[in-house]
Amino acid sequence: MVLVVVLKKCDNFMMAPKIIAIDGPAAAGKGTLAKRLAEHFGMELLDTGLLYRAVGRKVLDAFVEIGDDPKFFSVIAEKIAQNLIPADLEVDGLRTDQAAQAASKISTVPEVRAALLDFQRDFAMNPPNRGKGAILDGRDIGTVVCPDADIKLFIFASTEVRAKRRYKELQYRGVEAIYARVLEDMEKRDARDIERDASPLIPAKDSFQLDTNNLDADRALAVVLDYIQNK
Ligand code: DC
Repeated sequence: MVLVVVLKKCDNFMMAPKIIAIDGPAAAGKGTLAKRLAEHFGMELLDTGLLYRAVGRKVLDAFVEIGDDPKFFSVIAEKIAQNLIPADLEVDGLRTDQAAQAASKISTVPEVRAALLDFQRDFAMNPPNRGKGAILDGRDIGTVVCPDADIKLFIFASTEVRAKRRYKELQYRGVEAIYARVLEDMEKRDARDIERDASPLIPAKDSFQLDTNNLDADRALAVVLDYIQNK
């Protein structure tokens, strides 16, 4: 007991939490933070956005138009979500903006969310490779998927800052982009993710909320590690 207290106070030692839930809008910095925390603690990481992207991608591949009315795609999206396998998360084309928009649209369908819930909870409870614990990042991890997570983080930044980050990232990858269009897409996706009835993007009441408008990745990690250490 005494040893644990002493070790907890020591700068280099920090007990790995069992489950860390990270939520927030696109390009707020949660993906980078999740990776850095996973490395730091030796925990396994699940980017839950990839599940929704994989379903969206498959719906697009089936030549089903994903418009604004879910009734045209909800049945096929549900079937795809029910049959999703880990290999579907490895395919090319999941990181495109087209896949992101499709993911955001199919994620409004409650049956799709229900079909993906067990996979996420199973990962959280039984992380692969005997990881020391699991980190899941997404939109509803602290509120719905893992409401009992030891640590809940909500990472956010202004829409303009996030759109600039995304624009720079596209330029860096050599993808042609227009800033105004990136901003518009970001606003549309935020609105859909926040306003949907099924598991909307909202901070869990007991989450630590981090504004990354003026924080780089190193600083964000340091602030969160400090929070975890003192929790
Ligand atoms: O995190 P991301 O940008 O890859 O997510 C793509 C979309 O998937 C996002 O706009 C909404 C949806 N999503 C969700 O509804 N719930 C999650 N836990 C993760 C993502």
